[in-house]
Amino acid sequence: MESIWWYLMVWTLLYQSTWAVETQTRPGWEMERLGRELLESAREADLMEWIRGVRRRIHEYPELGFEEYKTSQLIRDELNSLGIKYEWPVAKTGVVATIGSGAQPIFALRADMDALPLQELVEWEHRSKIDGKMHACGHDSHVAMLLGAARLLQGKREILKGTVKLVFQPGEEGYAGAYHMLQHGALDNINAIFGLHVMPSIPTGMIASRPGPMLAGAGLFLVTVKGIGGHAAGPHQTRDPILAASLAIVALQQIVSRETDPLEAGVVTVGFIKGGQAANVIPESLEFGGTYRSLTSQGLSYIQERIKEITESQAAVHRCTAVVEFKEEIPLPYPPTDNDEELYEHAKRVGEILLGEPKVQLVPITMGAEDFSFYSQKVPAVMFELGIKNETLKSDQPLHSSYFVIDETALPIGAALHAAVAISYLDSHAADSVLQVGTI
Ligand SMILES: *[C@@H]1O[C@H](CO)[C@@H](O)[C@H](O)[C@H]1NC(C)=O
Ligand SMILES: [Zn+2]
Ligand SMILES: [Zn+2]
Repeated sequence: MESIWWYLMVWTLLYQSTWAVETQTRPGWEMERLGRELLESAREADLMEWIRGVRRRIHEYPELGFEEYKTSQLIRDELNSLGIKYEWPVAKTGVVATIGSGAQPIFALRADMDALPLQELVEWEHRSKIDGKMHACGHDSHVAMLLGAARLLQGKREILKGTVKLVFQPGEEGYAGAYHMLQHGALDNINAIFGLHVMPSIPTGMIASRPGPMLAGAGLFLVTVKGIGGHAAGPHQTRDPILAASLAIVALQQIVSRETDPLEAGVVTVGFIKGGQAANVIPESLEFGGTYRSLTSQGLSYIQERIKEITESQAAVHRCTAVVEFKEEIPLPYPPTDNDEELYEHAKRVGEILLGEPKVQLVPITMGAEDFSFYSQKVPAVMFELGIKNETLKSDQPLHSSYFVIDETALPIGAALHAAVAISYLDSHAADSVLQVGTI
């Protein structure tokens, strides 16, 4: 008798917990149906053309970091016409829109808005109308895809099991816009965040990412070397800053080659030297500067410290002085971008549902940097790359090139991916909290 009761009790518990899981999370087949529906909606002619139109309007009027006034206005106009509420200004030009109940869980989707100080050299109808400024990193398309996702999510607002925040962020290109967004209260309660970046090395129709570290932490340094100028024929009466800087630059190469563990990635690159006017004059001073990178915060601070020590000491060896600046007020360095493993698995599954398993690839780690990393320091975060390469369209030019082109057929994929990742995150995490309450 006793064993039968025990058996029945265990059976009841097992049966009930299985039932609970199936009813409280959206089953796989339903997610598949939803994912396909979102992608089909995004690819319908009117939505597809609308997203492309938004991207082209932004592309024609590129704005640099923290000057994205027109872009911000366009975003708010579109949100207004969709009836979506938002907070503004967040970090000067930033906008944070809210769709859903306002309650937890809160999932954030991020798009950056700024362009680059670069002349567009692509000849096409919607080329940049501002000389010397260009959307050559695809941030115009990031805004357009997030607005596309806003339309898809607004259409599904009744089924959202929580809240989606759309984060339109200024100043990614060296201005740490993400850091400044986080200083504002608008993002205090988010549970997780997803970001997408177009990538011209990946074919259209594919996406890619990796769990754990994906991009480097990066900082900038600027050095001023002061000596004593004079006639080139009387070097003994001068203190030559060119020689001091040359030896300092050579010595900086040894931070990575001799002081860094060969199995840890690090970069020290001097990108410019400015000094001197004439072949027969030793100048009074000169400047040089560059970037340093690592995949860990400890690595970054080590390299930063050594750049200062080595440069100052090498200058002293040659009877000059060096002042080293790190632009920490911006703030720099950007931390490394570290993708949360669980969130990566989640977004990967959603991508596989939308595009098919072989279309979701693992990217190698690269030493590029992104201020998305500031979010990843605060909450679970994952960044995916969206393929835009099509050789017929010449959309295989690198980011930050004057010839950068986007295959716009990738835009609906990005919009649908944003929406599907957010909806399914809310589904599974709303269920988690219900289950937790039930278990207690
Ligand atoms: C590339 O673009 C051309 C022109 O729009 C199109 O015909 C072709 O199908 C595209 N190729 C791929 C692989 O998407
Ligand atoms: Zn960029
Ligand atoms: Zn970018």
